[in-house]
Amino acid sequence: MADQDSISVGIVGGGLMGVGIATRFALAGMPALVVEARGERAAGIPLVAQDILSQLLDAGVIDGARCDAALARLRVTADLAGLAAAPVVIEAIPEDLQAKQALYAQLEAVVALDAIIASNTSGFPPDALSAQMRARERFLVAHFWNPPHAIPLVEVVPGSATDPDAVERIVRLLDRAGAEPVVLKAAIPGFIGNRLQFAVLREALHIVRSGAATPDTVDAVMKACLGRRYSIMGPFESADLGGLHTLLGIGANLMPELAKDEDVLELMREHVDKGELGAATGQGFHTWDEDRIADLKARRRRQLRQD
Ligand code: NAI
Repeated sequence: MADQDSISVGIVGGGLMGVGIATRFALAGMPALVVEARGERAAGIPLVAQDILSQLLDAGVIDGARCDAALARLRVTADLAGLAAAPVVIEAIPEDLQAKQALYAQLEAVVALDAIIASNTSGFPPDALSAQMRARERFLVAHFWNPPHAIPLVEVVPGSATDPDAVERIVRLLDRAGAEPVVLKAAIPGFIGNRLQFAVLREALHIVRSGAATPDTVDAVMKACLGRRYSIMGPFESADLGGLHTLLGIGANLMPELAKDEDVLELMREHVDKGELGAATGQGFHTWDEDRIADLKARRRRQLRQD
């Protein structure tokens, strides 16, 4: 068990993201304290963390000793006062602006003056989140991706009042945790990752809606081609390698053909209206039977081994 004085990071909200974030730090040798308000959820956190670590153990990424050591570095409490000694606190409570703002007021009364308060928000801009804070210079967004123990990207988004020193400090902390932080120059909606993700999803929906291909075919194209390419290079590196004159020619013809509106979301709305929410309900664009789930788990294990 981590003792309070040696906490490297505090995480408020022990849900899907909070436990994954805490586990990433614990795996990197950094004691993490999770503050979770719901007693039942708090009691289950060690088991959730154990499950995440078991996936890494099964994939051969860590051994038993590292798994046990990581678990020993995780602590759970319901009391925000436990964060008094934390140099950095990452907020991972649900996406509710008022609830997040109310939490920051409580946090500011507990943590040290120079402690960083970061939000894992999916979409609120840092200036809206920190609007009521006393010390806005200590606040920034640190947007992890799910699952945080396996996806290294963290989008760091400073607000207009954020101290550059806070940005440098959180980047150093994330580096130590084996994450791959990027710092945005401006807080654009969706930051970078979600904009790219939704640009791809819009075109994927457009292709399926046009009748040119099924979701299976679009997924196959992504996995067999672009997914592989993008795991080792970004779109600008890829453009440079393809030759900018060549891509300019293709783009000039193709760009006007691409989907530009959000009306393609109708295709998703039809599923949602039928209660087909995806893997969680067993049906979305695909049927999530045992075979498909087992296949995905095997692919995830392979990817964890390669990382
Ligand atoms: P979640 O609902 O799984 O977990 C939130 C947890 O916070 C719950 O266990 C809840 O009991 C706890 N909580 C609520 N208020 C609290 C308080 N005042 N003090 C202590 N604990 C409190 O939510 P999830 O999915 O982990 O999302 C958390 C944040 O991360 C949201 O802002 C979300 O937009 C963002 N995010 C989510 C991603 C995802 O894929 N789910 C990906 C990236 C960011």
